[in-house]
Amino acid sequence: MCGIVGYIGRKDAVPFLIDGLKALEYRGYDSAGIYVTGSGAVKRAGKVAVLASSLPDTFSGNAGIAHTRWATHGPPTERNAHPHTDASQSVWIVHNGIIENHAELRDMLIQEGIPFSSDTDTEVLSQLIGTYHTRGDLLEDAVEKALKKIRGTYGLAVMSNREPSKIVIARLGSPLMFGVGTDEYYIASDATPLLSRTRNVIYLEDGELAILTKEGYVVRDMSRQPIEKTIETLEWSTEAAQKHSFEHFMLKEIMEIPEVIQDTLRGRVATKDGDAVLGGLRDVAKRFKDVRRIIITGCGSAYYAGFVGKHLIEEFAGIPVEIEIASELRYRPFTADPKHTVLLAVSQSGETADTLEAIRLAKKQGMLTLGIVNVVGSTIARETDAGIYNHAGPEIGVASTKAFVSQLVVLILVALFLGRMRTLSTAEGKKLAKALLKLPEQVRTILAGRKAIEKIARKYSNVENVLYIGRKYQCPVAYEGALKLKEISYIHAEGYGAGEMKHGPLALIDESFPTVALAPRDSLYEKMCSNIEEIRARGGKVIAVTTDGNNAIRRIADDVIFVPKTHEALLPILTTIPLQLFAYYVARERGLPIDKPRNLAKSVTVE
Ligand code: G6P
Repeated sequence: MCGIVGYIGRKDAVPFLIDGLKALEYRGYDSAGIYVTGSGAVKRAGKVAVLASSLPDTFSGNAGIAHTRWATHGPPTERNAHPHTDASQSVWIVHNGIIENHAELRDMLIQEGIPFSSDTDTEVLSQLIGTYHTRGDLLEDAVEKALKKIRGTYGLAVMSNREPSKIVIARLGSPLMFGVGTDEYYIASDATPLLSRTRNVIYLEDGELAILTKEGYVVRDMSRQPIEKTIETLEWSTEAAQKHSFEHFMLKEIMEIPEVIQDTLRGRVATKDGDAVLGGLRDVAKRFKDVRRIIITGCGSAYYAGFVGKHLIEEFAGIPVEIEIASELRYRPFTADPKHTVLLAVSQSGETADTLEAIRLAKKQGMLTLGIVNVVGSTIARETDAGIYNHAGPEIGVASTKAFVSQLVVLILVALFLGRMRTLSTAEGKKLAKALLKLPEQVRTILAGRKAIEKIARKYSNVENVLYIGRKYQCPVAYEGALKLKEISYIHAEGYGAGEMKHGPLALIDESFPTVALAPRDSLYEKMCSNIEEIRARGGKVIAVTTDGNNAIRRIADDVIFVPKTHEALLPILTTIPLQLFAYYVARERGLPIDKPRNLAKSVTVE
């Protein structure tokens, strides 16, 4: 993995390829490369800007492919960067995904006398394609034959200097699409690079291969049967994917949260009936009547949002909810009673490999599968039986902020929707609905007070460890707060259910090991105060996040961050935002690349 772009048409391919790579930088990467017909290939370790400045003035051509690589097999060096080629340097490929049987294929090819020039799994594919192609197969047929030999996943774009006016692309498990212009096509692994060029896009499905020339395109399956594709329209604006005056996308995206909540809620709250209107679930609503179990899954922040969702659904709808990270769920039998079980997957990108596989497994077993997804038209959005879009707009920062909040909002709507189908009273429903509509304004007040959070962050920016604790709804908020800090500031941080302190974490506490305590005035507030006292008694510093007016907490906390009062079930939305800002300001103080933390990628499309 990480990002693919390609162009074929009448113009020079290079400007789009470089712009496209820049638009994909947000996904995280460690090297980059480009191949353009007539000009050849250039690869560099490091930034796209380094690649761009290495291109000779004469570097141009009407077709090309380019890639940002996030190392999986072999270190991030020039020799391992894509495009990869074959022994005769006829074929050039860029690839996202993983070739699982690369070792055996490599051995086989080496025995045939083929020399390898990189450590990557991808080169096995370029060598295989090259072998068939140089023996006389058309490029598309050579690609197809090679793909039949490999096990694994791919999003792939291939060119050949023997057929320079053609790009062959194929997909299995790694997203790929192409924008349709006039006599020109723009290939990309996600929609962001396409926004500045065209709104018309064709998504490739798993098992499909497309042959693109400037005159047109043909999509076919692996048995060479042609497939009719529909041109879909991209909704996101170019504006939304730009940083404007903000220093980082992460801060921009946090500052957008009030509008994101509004967009997520738009048309979905029936205040009079105290209910949620979820059009995406209408067709499957009948099946909810018999649901006895819900399994929520996801990865990273999406998983933690799901964890809050578990509490919400159990409390408001009385349905037992299991929560499991997708990378575990996909490898365990979760077959019991599939007819009465719903799998609810949460994913910002809609492309996370583990989440997708968990969905496929659940579907195979006959479960109803639902998605809470931000990216319209993404694989998870298309493969689930039904779902709800976040409408959070593009999220560029690797660390999820606005999408996480939007996931929480959707999960509250789902809990309200399921609750009202069961035992939740109109009066309770109305209370939630009213509180939901107040959230954007309340978030604005938190954001307006960000200077105070920045000051606290500065004070703690040199620590080596931070503990985050909370209970019930605030427990997953603690997990997410710790994740945010560790991913962008590289400070070791752990989230814990506060009740677990005495079972281990308390041993870590001393003056140098601060704790962020999520202590809004909710049903478990008193218990949280006891936990805070225990930390203080061991010399630990405490940063408390509490609700407005609770000045008494100053007696037991070193620093206090206030959030507005709301319904207890909605508090995670308000308490999570100071934690995002805290992590942001700590990382900024430490001078780190906040939007693209080291070793991380925005969308994890391999296992
Ligand atoms: C990566 C991202 C996280 C995200 C997780 C799940 O780790 O850096 O921000 O929460 O993937 O991604 P998804 O797109 O499925 O929500």
